[in-house]
Amino acid sequence: MPDTTYRTTNDLQSYWMPFTANRQFKETPRMLVGAKGMYYTTDEGQEVLDGVSGMWCVNAGHGRESITEAIRAQAGQMDYATAFQMGHPLAFELASRLTTLLPGALDHVFFANSGSEAVDTALKIALAYHRARGEGTRTRFIGRERGYHGVGFGGTAVGGIVNNRKQFGNMLGGVDHLPHTHNLEQNAFSRGQPTWGVELADDLEKLVALHDASTIAAVIVEPMAGSTGVLVPPVGYLDRLRDICTRHGILLIFDEVITGFGRTGASFGAERFGVQPDMMTMAKGLTNGAVPMSAIGTTGTIYDALMEGPPGMIELFHGYTYSAHPLACAAALASLELYESERLFDRAAELAPYWEDAVHGLKDCKNVIDIRNIGLVAGIELAPRDGAPAARGYDCFVRCFAEGLLFRQTGDTIALAPPLIIEKGEIDRLIETLGNVINGLD
Ligand SMILES: Cc1ncc(COP(=O)(O)O)c(C=O)c1O
Repeated sequence: MPDTTYRTTNDLQSYWMPFTANRQFKETPRMLVGAKGMYYTTDEGQEVLDGVSGMWCVNAGHGRESITEAIRAQAGQMDYATAFQMGHPLAFELASRLTTLLPGALDHVFFANSGSEAVDTALKIALAYHRARGEGTRTRFIGRERGYHGVGFGGTAVGGIVNNRKQFGNMLGGVDHLPHTHNLEQNAFSRGQPTWGVELADDLEKLVALHDASTIAAVIVEPMAGSTGVLVPPVGYLDRLRDICTRHGILLIFDEVITGFGRTGASFGAERFGVQPDMMTMAKGLTNGAVPMSAIGTTGTIYDALMEGPPGMIELFHGYTYSAHPLACAAALASLELYESERLFDRAAELAPYWEDAVHGLKDCKNVIDIRNIGLVAGIELAPRDGAPAARGYDCFVRCFAEGLLFRQTGDTIALAPPLIIEKGEIDRLIETLGNVINGLD
């Protein structure tokens, strides 16, 4: 049994919780104190099935011994090493290892500590790349409505979630957005990639015509938008974005913070959807969630363009105190080893048809207006209550938690992304709990 004595000694007020309704939470807290495999343990000793891999990150399940041991051993050997003008072997090993996993031409890796930092880093690299090539007028970024790219100023600006933007006034200037691809009339209850919507990519041509290609540095999209409710790209959509970017010299950045490391049934969304980006951001599953770390994969073309000037010059004035932190590198290497030895990405692909049938089995539940899926991800959208958007989704979240199931609520959409080690019996249990709860909601 986990030790829960802290409950009586801690004051709930001091901690300002992220992306949380603090006052509501502190009235009725939900506390997690342990985690192993597919399950959390609450402070009341209840087991909770983790339907969203922590926060889309614990792809190999919780508390994996080999990862814990790698972190422990590295902490004993060298707790920290600066990454500025110094190196340590694990950073180089991890970068090399990652490039064998990354699609095609992505053969260089820069390290940061969170998805948000990875996104802002990728945007800055895009600017620096164009400047290095004498195209310094390319400063504009194109994101997408309902995109989530973290909480840095760059990521917030290219993201397309109104609640993440409206509180902060002016964001990064010179940003425009593609339309999102969610369309209930055309695509409700699609299995896998929807067939309608490829033409939405043509809006990029319109933005190019409006702003001129010479002002546009990069387009950034999630191959599958996760945080806004699992929006799977229509067939052909990403290929078309790729074509338009290539035609106009615009870099295409895939934000794979969620879609990386097996989530869609392949190493990365780029592989799953067969489209090659110029840069890719990764985080979350990189260390199986055990230590914060993110990475940016770039092509040799981008890297080489910046390797200019006198050899003693720092080529990119960017980096973090904790870039390539030794504990994170150790955790990432152990995670990649685990993914490989347990063939977890293949496992996700093999389980995907069972998962798809299971989640679509909720189609006739009360107020369900859409179900979307790809790999081991699903979004189940509930009709909003009149005048109270997200209330039904929140009630579903709270009641499921009481019934021993955790998922990520995003508005009225239930986002599911279980660890890739989930068993069929656990999928059945998850679906049964969810179905009962949904049917019991008004
Ligand atoms: C696609 C995407 N990009 C960036 C982020 C931000 O990552 P972090 O919370 O680690 O900063 C997230 C987080 O969910 C994400 O889903």
